[in-house]
Amino acid sequence: MHKPVLLKETIDLLKVQKGKQYIDCTFGFGGHSRKIIERDGKVLGIDVDEESISLAKGLFSHFDNLILVSDNFRNLKEIAKRNGIEKVSGILLDLGMSSWQIDCSGRGFSFTKNEPLDMRMDKSLKVTASDLIKVLNKGEFYDLLSRLGEEGCARDIGISLIRARGIKEIKSTADLAKIIEGVYQQKYYGKSKKNPATKVFQAFRIAVNDELNALKEVLPIACDLLEKNGRLAIISFHSLEDRIVKEFFKETDSLKIITKKPVEASPSELAENPRARSAKLRVAEKN
Ligand SMILES: C[S@@+](CC[C@H](N)C(=O)[O-])C[C@H]1O[C@@H](n2cnc3c(N)ncnc32)[C@H](O)[C@@H]1O
Repeated sequence: MHKPVLLKETIDLLKVQKGKQYIDCTFGFGGHSRKIIERDGKVLGIDVDEESISLAKGLFSHFDNLILVSDNFRNLKEIAKRNGIEKVSGILLDLGMSSWQIDCSGRGFSFTKNEPLDMRMDKSLKVTASDLIKVLNKGEFYDLLSRLGEEGCARDIGISLIRARGIKEIKSTADLAKIIEGVYQQKYYGKSKKNPATKVFQAFRIAVNDELNALKEVLPIACDLLEKNGRLAIISFHSLEDRIVKEFFKETDSLKIITKKPVEASPSELAENPRARSAKLRVAEKN
């Protein structure tokens, strides 16, 4: 369903202790939380994806030391308060999407499947990726694709999207992937090693879910919730997220950085789980 990345490294660095309270802000399928509970920690698990949380509730129904909540981690302060939690010994964020969301949710997170171009992790959000493509202008496409996708062909892709949507609505992952392929074939065919759709899909997903703002908002809240010597562990999957975490750790006086360099997956993990390729774990401790 979902293979947790950097599992041992994360749990060891969180220094899980018996009877202590932890918050897993990105529960997914509970790979990390399960280990915390196995070490006798208590977990409040949060995930913005209601469908995923409802599946997890079934899978974890026999666990005592676990509360599961469907909410956005940007609301962490209220979520903790509602659940009677004042201070915790550790907080985990394992950012991005789960393999289940990519492979089974049918929401168009990947260009390898032809699905509706939705990309919402939270189905109550009003705007899908397809809706965004209907309304953005040339400058907005450029900004979104270059800033959130670090996409070199942002301008050309924006122009092609505007042209294509004038002919036919861009409704599916295949529609979007075909337009990106067209731009790359004209300009850089054969030069890029990665599928050129990777960055564009990333950019739309980040925009639809407002991912970078949610991350910026949760960091100070998480820091406030930590007790003395409590630890904050964050796994990120691209440089935009990693930069936000790195800067926050550096500029927050009440945090001591534990991982001078981010922890990355070992060759044996990489051989088993290619998704771990871009994972970077940073950990800090409350003074
Ligand atoms: C990489 S997965 C976590 C996997 C989990 N650690 C495991 O081992 O199963 C990331 C999860 O975070 C959730 N997520 C992403 N952004 C979120 C947010 N702002 N608030 C709450 N959950 C979020 C996604 O829905 C997804 O299920």
